Amino acid sequence: MTFAELWAELLPVGRDERTGGYRRYSWTEADAGCRAWFARTATKLGLRTDFDRNGNLWAWWGRPTGTSGQAIATGSHLDSVPDGGPYDGPLGIASAFAAISQLREQGFRPARPIGVAAFTEEEGGRFGVACLGSRLATGAIDVDTARQLRDRTGVSLAEAMRSAGRDASLLGPDDELLEGLAAYVELHIEQGSALAGLGAPIAVAEGIWPHGRWRIDFTGQADHAGTTRLADRRDPMLPYALTVLAARAAAAAHGALATFGRVIAEPGGTNAISSVVHAWLDARAPDAATLDELVSDIWVAAQSAASQHGVGVEQRPESVAPLVSFDKRLRDRLVTVLGKAGFTAPVLATGAGHDAGVLAARIPTAMLFVRNPTGISHSPAELAEAADCEAGVTALAAVLADLAGE
Ligand code: GLV
Ligand code: MN
Ligand code: MN
Repeated sequence: MTFAELWAELLPVGRDERTGGYRRYSWTEADAGCRAWFARTATKLGLRTDFDRNGNLWAWWGRPTGTSGQAIATGSHLDSVPDGGPYDGPLGIASAFAAISQLREQGFRPARPIGVAAFTEEEGGRFGVACLGSRLATGAIDVDTARQLRDRTGVSLAEAMRSAGRDASLLGPDDELLEGLAAYVELHIEQGSALAGLGAPIAVAEGIWPHGRWRIDFTGQADHAGTTRLADRRDPMLPYALTVLAARAAAAAHGALATFGRVIAEPGGTNAISSVVHAWLDARAPDAATLDELVSDIWVAAQSAASQHGVGVEQRPESVAPLVSFDKRLRDRLVTVLGKAGFTAPVLATGAGHDAGVLAARIPTAMLFVRNPTGISHSPAELAEAADCEAGVTALAAVLADLAGE
């Protein structure tokens, strides 16, 4: 089974015809379509599929048991951001299946089980918390808090899982699963264009910047757009706008990144001053101290702008991830294996979050990046060349053969 065949089958699932972007939110119909593709593909490859207690989907080559030794896991996620590109997540899973198919054809017999994972809600696109499935598995989120997370229409995670036929009462830390894993290697589209500059198709990840999401609510006074004198307004849109500009300036001053990509003005009348503006800050920095300073500077600016306009303001973190340095021994081993397979793989840090980063707190993890010629990601314009996807499969197959071989 080739990568191109696997890929062609998955491509139409969850794509919005108008934008060309993907809307694969967890526990929706599109997600079920992606999971059905996963199960079908696993079955064709003779792999056994199961759910773990947190709704993450697994396909196993060999059974992870006490006697067979710890397994080697690979995979990524099938969910997307709103109007995401096709590669972010699914590339790692399709590549894993294609790599297993390639290893099978080569007559490789794993000495350890190999597992392919599809982690649930990596993007936090429906319930707001990034890497939800791996956070639950590692105990990095309180279970009751997770069950009560709500999507934009008020449906809770527990209800969404129930509608999809899963049991949310099982959610929680999965020590049995993690203790059965020797390592997790996630292949992912590069979300920048460093590899294009270096002329290399594959990189190995060094680490992930600390990052997080904060919700900021500005509460003002709804009023008439045509009759309320400027001096009498308590318009929450104004401190929101000033905070966006302050975030940009603070990010530039700290050598960091800050983004407002989601905002809701309520009640949303063209001819009315808003009563409340909900805004979500995404902030990322090379180290924890800089991230703290960045977020604190933005919060000070938000408070000052709110007070200047007679508006109330509150903030709370929705999901925060610490600095991750991937396991050095595993990373060095990957670079060596890739070198033998003909790839000179540079080692790159990234500002993007991944389940591998969450799992790194519990097991040795590593990542492979596949060249992205434009660097664009979280967008329908995200791209990887077919030849680079094939190179990714070959690279991952070499890594799995090394880690799961005799
Ligand atoms: C995941 O893609 C992230 O937001 O970093
Ligand atoms: Mn992403
Ligand atoms: Mn991703």
